[in-house]
Amino acid sequence: MNYKKHISMIKQNEILVFQSIENLSEHLYELLRKKTVNSPEGRYVSIALSGGSTPKRIFNDISSRDEGGINWKKIRLFWVDERCVSPDDDESNFKMTQINLLENLDIPDENIFRIFGENDPKKEAIRYSQVLKENLPSENGLPGFDIVLLGIGEDGHTASIFPGNTSLFHSTKYCEAVTHPQSGQQRITITGAVINNADLIIFMVTGADKAKILERIVYDKRKTELPATLVNPTNGNLLWLLDAGAASFLGNHSNKFS
Ligand code: 6PG
Repeated sequence: MNYKKHISMIKQNEILVFQSIENLSEHLYELLRKKTVNSPEGRYVSIALSGGSTPKRIFNDISSRDEGGINWKKIRLFWVDERCVSPDDDESNFKMTQINLLENLDIPDENIFRIFGENDPKKEAIRYSQVLKENLPSENGLPGFDIVLLGIGEDGHTASIFPGNTSLFHSTKYCEAVTHPQSGQQRITITGAVINNADLIIFMVTGADKAKILERIVYDKRKTELPATLVNPTNGNLLWLLDAGAASFLGNHSNKFS
């Protein structure tokens, strides 16, 4: 049965649970389509993309279902974070996005603002901060994204802000160079100030392996050592797009509707 569950949360938080990743992608596609249709002429819709494995299938599904419904010329793409590798490295978030999304779309090169993972990390964090400042509208004195797409790791990290490094979330900088606590991999990440300044923050979380951490993050906001619990839009909205596996421990305050 193609059902969604709607677990209403406090204030401007909303959780939608989908029967399949295809249904989740369909919802995200329609959300992006409406954003571009409703965006005034001459105004870009600026989106920050996360990497990892979750977006792969979703990006692939979005690009394969696109028959001109989304005006990609009105969309500018940025990244939430990037591994400090070259853009053709299999670890690169840009490469993952290129293969699963960009290659299939007619989005102009000038609308794509890649993080240069091949650069010196500290210098790139400074450069990308400037890119955000110059190419995004200023909201509350900070770069303002229309949409920030986030994933969540099983350890509760989001972007490349890991447990034990939540001070990054409160950094006064827009971007920081960080080191992955387990792998030692260098990364560039946007910080909590920019993330929470977005008009719409979307967590995309799929798979039963995320059910436990999701239960902790959604229901126990005191777990502030988990970076994902610090995601809390200042003026915008927070939308959770989950599949049934990831949501399997979440309460059933829902109205099932087909
Ligand atoms: C990255 C991502 C990262 C990701 C989570 C979830 O560069 O890896 O930005 O924050 O969203 O680690 O990753 P999965 O989707 O692979 O579970």
